[in-house]
Amino acid sequence: MKTLYMPPSIKHFEPLHMVFSTWVDHLPFGYDLVTALRPKMLVELGTHKGLSYFTFCQAMKENDIDGVCYAVDTFEGDAHTDKYDESVFNAVNNHNRQHYHGFSYLMRMFFEDALKHFDDDSIELLHIDGFHTYEAVSADFANWYPKVKPGGIILFHDVMARLQDFGAWKFWDETRGQHETFTFNHGFGLGVLRKPGGDRSNDHPLLKLLFEDAKADDGAGLRSFYVHASKHLENTRKLKRLTQGQPQQQPAS
Ligand SMILES: C[S@@+](CC[C@H](N)C(=O)[O-])C[C@H]1O[C@@H](n2cnc3c(N)ncnc32)[C@H](O)[C@@H]1O
Repeated sequence: MKTLYMPPSIKHFEPLHMVFSTWVDHLPFGYDLVTALRPKMLVELGTHKGLSYFTFCQAMKENDIDGVCYAVDTFEGDAHTDKYDESVFNAVNNHNRQHYHGFSYLMRMFFEDALKHFDDDSIELLHIDGFHTYEAVSADFANWYPKVKPGGIILFHDVMARLQDFGAWKFWDETRGQHETFTFNHGFGLGVLRKPGGDRSNDHPLLKLLFEDAKADDGAGLRSFYVHASKHLENTRKLKRLTQGQPQQQPAS
């Protein structure tokens, strides 16, 4: 790696909203990417309990980023998450109101119905994490790609997950060679795609690491950094739980 970069996630990131999700392996990268991009508009397709979405929102708030975020989801579930009840939406809605009021909005609807609310070339960071069949991921990409700003980023979760009828891996295998991309293989996998165009003269060091330096070293350094960063975050959380769970020491008499 040639570019110098100190990821903000290792300096000061402690997730405010922890819920069970396989997105757990990508929290430091999600936080760092939002901090690097400083997006004026961020959209997530598929929010469920909000692990990825609130990581993005936390980065927006803690780094004083002047932008808006939208979480699109029916908040009813699909065949992979199974149907879930209203308590999921209520918890996400409460957390959103409590912490991100004024810049983060939940759009409770189908992705297809949300499309008309966004202009072409307007979204700087799009996260595609809805239904994970090959057909669904391909359709989400085809429908939403025009909405992404030239030079903008699209994230795809689960590009390494080979279970049930998941097909994001197949979509990613076909797509990654045709675009500027970077792939995190750990966890269930996270694909990062950059739309052509935009002004790249002032690219943030993280973008240089993803799309320039990675051409030289195949991205091995960056990839292993985020494997360790997510393990470190998990261990820190475990340690905190353990120490907080221990009975208070009695003062010596
Ligand atoms: C894998 S979960 C999202 C996980 C989440 N990003 C996280 O960090 O844990 C997928 C979500 O997408 C939603 N979903 C799937 N297809 C959808 C569609 N066509 N329109 C709206 N929501 C959809 C489901 O309701 C579900 O909550």
